[in-house]
Parts: sequence; structure tokens; C-alpha cells
Amino acid sequence: MSRIAYVNGAYVPLAGAGVSVLDRGFQFADSIYEVWAIRGGRLFDADAHMSRLRRSLNELRIHFPMSDAALYAVLRDTQRRNRVTDGIVYLQISRGAAPRDHVFPSLSVRPTIVVTAKNLDQSAIARRAAQGIKVITLPDTRWARCDIKSVNLLPNVLARQTAKEKGAFEAWFVDEAGFVTEGTSSNAFIVDAQNRIRTAAISNHILHGVTRAALLAIARDHQLKVVEEPFTTEEAKVAGEAFISAASNPAVPVVAIDAAQVGNGQPGPIAKALRAFYLGAEPENRRFEAESGLAPERRTLMFAAQPRARRGATKEA
Ligand SMILES: Cc1ncc(COP(=O)(O)O)c(C=O)c1O
Repeated sequence: MSRIAYVNGAYVPLAGAGVSVLDRGFQFADSIYEVWAIRGGRLFDADAHMSRLRRSLNELRIHFPMSDAALYAVLRDTQRRNRVTDGIVYLQISRGAAPRDHVFPSLSVRPTIVVTAKNLDQSAIARRAAQGIKVITLPDTRWARCDIKSVNLLPNVLARQTAKEKGAFEAWFVDEAGFVTEGTSSNAFIVDAQNRIRTAAISNHILHGVTRAALLAIARDHQLKVVEEPFTTEEAKVAGEAFISAASNPAVPVVAIDAAQVGNGQPGPIAKALRAFYLGAEPENRRFEAESGLAPERRTLMFAAQPRARRGATKEA
């Protein structure tokens, strides 16, 4: 639980923290956000999240003058004040508070910035990774700019609630052509019949997941075949493996989609390996090598290499 929030330049107790009722984030969802995972006290993929934040601001034409260095200082300070070692830091920037009007307010209206940080339940995270999760599929009813990380999340909220009510951890959105776009707060992947990692290509219809990009880079580094092409619900249900990715849920195996079991109903070896490499640890054991179903030469490549510092992991000291 976050105890201290940063709001427009001040650190205040979370319980009393607030923004104006005229804030455009509250009135119109005219606001963007970003989430960094913190592991062992460090921000993961720090710069990639920062660039996506800048991109979201640009796309919405929110002029936010604070430098990256100043923002990092606030992120770190909020992390420190909340004693977060393994969790997330959340940042939201709205266009600011102004009398309600759909049209943008004048540039003299300063954007609102809020930062919070909290530790996450590590046992729940470990359980999800070890046991895998269930997902359900639902129609993608979102707008056509899902690449912008805006707080316009109502379809995601409703879908996630439906997932919870059906005993699933995540819901995958399916577009009108029958293809899975992504989850409510994660990207979606399968390992198809040709042992290829498949995930929808970057477009306006999905969030350009930072973890997605990192996992695909790791997979390519280990000579795994990656195809950025969407898959249908039917393809996912007969896939060898499926998994999701998000900053706080990197390569979490999916073991059931709707009522269908995925693969043998257990977390798949590729998702487990990607997760281990992403987190900078060795794959939990070599048994997995035999189970992976990969050609022997690929297995060697996957497992011979010591996990190295991931590309662009963080610039944080
Ligand atoms: C809709 C959606 N897709 C994908 C992701 C994964 O993005 P990232 O890996 O950058 O956390 C998120 C993360 O919150 C999300 O909300």
C-alpha cells in the first residue's frame, strides 16, 4: 500500500492526497499514465517506459515541461518514501484542472502530476508464475488508439471484472475479425504448432508493451522464432503454450483459455524460460530443456548462455 503520494510538487500522505474535481483526468479521462516495475529496489526497463510516457503525452498534445531527470528523481523519491523494494511505481499526468469544456484549456493550465508506489504481493506473483493463469476472451470494445497509455480504461475494467467473476486472472480482447489483440492490462502470446512465438504486431490497436518488446528481444537472442502476427481464439486454444506479459507480470503462463486447457494444462517451457531470462535468473532447472520440445541445437543455445544483463534493462544506478 502506498502511504505517500507525490501530487503537483509535494509529497503528501496518501489518505489526504487529492486533485481538483475539475481535473480533466476525472472529467474526461484526459490523462495518461505509466507503470514501472521495481525489483530488488531498481526500476525495470526504466528508459523504455519513460519514452512511452513521452510518446503518450505527445499523442495527446499534453505539454509537460519536467525533464526526464527530474521525473526520475520523483519516481525514486516516491519509491524511497514508500519503502518499495519489489512492486510498482505509478505515474499519471492529466491535462490539468480547468472549468469543464471539451476543448483544451489554455496553455497556462498546468498538467496535474501524481506519483504513487507500492510493494506487490510476491507470493501471489510467484504462485501465478508457477501455476499459470486462466484467461477468458471477450469482444474488443475499446477505442482505436490503444497505443496511447491513457486512463480511458473502462472497457478494460469491465472485462477484467468479468474475468474475475469467471475465475480467470485476465481477459483477452478479440477484434471483429476474430483475432486476439491483447489483454486488459497485458500483451498476449502463444507458441504455435511450428514452435513459433506469436503475438499481434504493434499497431494502434494494442499498447506497445515494454515487456513485450524485451521478451521478444530475448527470444530472438536465443534463436527462437518470433512472428508478430495475430492469432485467433481457436488457434490459441490448440497452441502448445500461451502467456501474457506486463511490467509486473512478465511471461506469465496461460494454462486455460475460456473452458479449454492450453497444452498439457501446465506452464509451458518457453514462457518459463523467457520469464527466467527476463528476470535475470537461470531457468529453474534443466528438466525443462527436455520438455521444451525444441530442436537440440536450439536448446543448447537457450541454456548454454548465462543470463546476461538485458538490453536496455535500466539506466538506474
Ligand atoms: C492494455 C495493456 N496492454 C499491455 C500492457 C503491458 O505493457 P508493459 O509491458 O509495458 O507493462 C499493459 C500494461 O499495463 C496494458 O495495460
